[in-house]
Amino acid sequence: MSEFTNIGGLEDFPDEGMVQVTVRGEPLGIYRIGEKVYALHDMCTHEETFLTGGEFDVDDCEVECPLHGSRFHVATGAVRILPATKPVAAYQVKIEGGNVFIGPEKARV
Ligand code: FES
Repeated sequence: MSEFTNIGGLEDFPDEGMVQVTVRGEPLGIYRIGEKVYALHDMCTHEETFLTGGEFDVDDCEVECPLHGSRFHVATGAVRILPATKPVAAYQVKIEGGNVFIGPEKARV
């Protein structure tokens, strides 16, 4: 089995938008800025809610949790604003032939 999973064409994902997809049984948030695509586990590490229900701040490359306002960097999963203290998992992404592929988890920061 390939370590990368095809989740569809780049054009399926709105530019400067975020969508939730299920990849290998896990809910992931997919964030697109132009030709760049980022993937984070969609569950906030503070309490249980989906980050894609919050706000995507394209300028700062951050997602803000809808419940208590923690912010995570979408490229690394690092916490930028409390109350969350643990990073969310970020996943490798590659774009080939106009398709988006999700790979293994990146090293946590
Ligand atoms: S559940 Fe996300 S900050 Fe509290």
